[in-house]
Amino acid sequence: MSTASSDAGNLSNLLHENRRFDPPAELAASANVKAEAYDEASADRDAFWAKAADRLTWAQKWDRVLDWDNAPFAKWFVGGRLNAAYNCVDRHVEAGNGERVAIDWVGEPVGDERTITYAQLKDEVSQAANALTALGVETGDRVAIYMPMIPEAIVTMLACARLGAPHTVVFGGFSAEALASRIEDCQAKVVVTADGGYRRGAASALKPAVDEAREIAARAGHEVAKVLVVRRTGQEVAWDGPETGGPDVWWHETVATASTDHTPEAFDAEHPLYVMYTSGTTGKPKGILHTTGGYLTQAAFTHWEVFDLKPETDVYWCTADIGWVTGHSYIVYGPLANGATQVLYEGTPDFPERGRWWQIIEEKKVTLFYTAPTAIRSFMKQGHDIPDQHDMSSLRILGSVGEPINPEAYVWYRHVIGGDRTPVVDTWWQTETGAMMISPLPGVTHGKPGSAMTALPGVGADVVDDEGHPVANGSGGYLVLTEPWPSMLRTIWGDDQRYVDTYWARFKDQGYYFAGDGAKKDEDGDLWVLGRVDDVMNVSGHRLSTTEIESALVSHPYVAEAAVVGATDEDTGQAVVAYVILREGAPENCEKELSDHVRKEIGPIAKPKRIMVVPELPKTRSGKIMRRLLRDLAEGRGVGDTTTLADSSIMELIAAGQAQATDD
Ligand code: PRX
Repeated sequence: MSTASSDAGNLSNLLHENRRFDPPAELAASANVKAEAYDEASADRDAFWAKAADRLTWAQKWDRVLDWDNAPFAKWFVGGRLNAAYNCVDRHVEAGNGERVAIDWVGEPVGDERTITYAQLKDEVSQAANALTALGVETGDRVAIYMPMIPEAIVTMLACARLGAPHTVVFGGFSAEALASRIEDCQAKVVVTADGGYRRGAASALKPAVDEAREIAARAGHEVAKVLVVRRTGQEVAWDGPETGGPDVWWHETVATASTDHTPEAFDAEHPLYVMYTSGTTGKPKGILHTTGGYLTQAAFTHWEVFDLKPETDVYWCTADIGWVTGHSYIVYGPLANGATQVLYEGTPDFPERGRWWQIIEEKKVTLFYTAPTAIRSFMKQGHDIPDQHDMSSLRILGSVGEPINPEAYVWYRHVIGGDRTPVVDTWWQTETGAMMISPLPGVTHGKPGSAMTALPGVGADVVDDEGHPVANGSGGYLVLTEPWPSMLRTIWGDDQRYVDTYWARFKDQGYYFAGDGAKKDEDGDLWVLGRVDDVMNVSGHRLSTTEIESALVSHPYVAEAAVVGATDEDTGQAVVAYVILREGAPENCEKELSDHVRKEIGPIAKPKRIMVVPELPKTRSGKIMRRLLRDLAEGRGVGDTTTLADSSIMELIAAGQAQATDD
């Protein structure tokens, strides 16, 4: 399977996949969304989304569904006012569902569990909102969240939403440097963290990274006012509290003692809800801004639509981390706005035993399950014996997200985990789109392994050629979104121009949003997303920028120049492969030191799988590194067309070096 290509022409190479799976009859009969939705939405898109928005509770109704006059800057539900946290929590309690479980939390240490009802969640969110207010957080202030997968992370996000203070959640696996750059970019006033979290049986620290990030930010002129710390593991932490004039405060001494009374204020539909940083083609991460009304509408609607959620009976589980957009839209905002009951799991999939996930599904009787292809592939490798030991007959729909799911993984997922009963919904979307865009509907669409099928009702997607013309069925090209959608990003935090240039310039004449992915349409017109066509990699469903990793490498004193490519990898979809030119005097065998350096600068996920020391990098006459050639090499295709290189012998040299390194 090809996961990335810099040449859209290569994408026309079609896979022939003839397996088809019809929706189960019972599911089709009682589905939340039926086939008519497509016609309804194409007849009147605005009316379709207005109906979806009506599923939320508004303090004041909007005057206009969409204002696209100032495209590509959209306003949805103009004039409407609502509170996202009220919609996710309070209204369910008011509707008499306070005793329903909102979060069934499973800690990594066996037996460490907490069940939180909607009524309890309302109290905790209110306490956190009161505590954050006491710490000086006001509407519009940014709050950074750097936490493990514990209920307090969700409580904090909702407390921020309740106050209209946009949060920026930074994945706990990111380094202090990465955290600092995000804190600085959005000028976060408060950071909420924990002493640590559990990973593979060990307490893994978080607070030290916050301390370091705070110092880095301070050196750059930004002072973090307060650091609110949850005691999760009980491990030793350095403490700089009010006694010593410092910002640290404990959660259990502030939030837990705060009042449970808090009246949420309604905010404008376009009030910023959060900033989520994601990798782009340059080294600097982009702060993707999502606002309130449109985002919540589409996150909640698609969760209800694509998972066919029946909140009274379903038990939903999404295995993503809240540090990624999937955790935002499909753990926090979508499911909670819908009043769902969900499992939240803190730890790694295979701890303390390899069947931990399947054991949780069995025990909690999970009905709807959402995970990433990289996890499915790693379980596939372990075979079916382990999942076969568990009764997973409660499952009724399986979802996939984050990267292309290859047909074999799709079929394994459906067969071994879903017992051949469950539809698999392959959902394509991005941090920028905020919610699902392309996916089958489980009660309507037949499943075709490997294909995300068609745009959801109300969404416009197409595959176009270089000139922006739709390609014929059976061909490949660039994936574009042809219409604005409610949960679309509104801009890049602090950089409107970069927003326009990155997403709207490529197909400016057509007014299309360019997603950065290559895709093909098969003979039936169904969509197959093939992966990124720009300098963005997808490692285990996580987006990384080649440039960002190159900058990290070059910041090491041994490295003169670096080129990074994403090479197809059996387990992780793509793997980071780096080619580096060393400075004079750099010691031999310093590859490990370099890879540890990347780990420190960005985080473990960005660590190169392979580092090749090379004498030169392949460059065009204008000096641009030809990553395509390096990718060919890294993926074992040998030396490709070198005619545009300034010095065509360089690739032979690199190839010879690589062959030798592999032999060693
Ligand atoms: O390349 C596509 C891939 O993930 C990218 C978006 O990454 P991110 O913003 O981190 O969000 C991931 C979770 C929504 C896309 O540009 N991608 C995501 N879902 C799929 C996918 N590729 C193929 N099939 C999918 N279902």
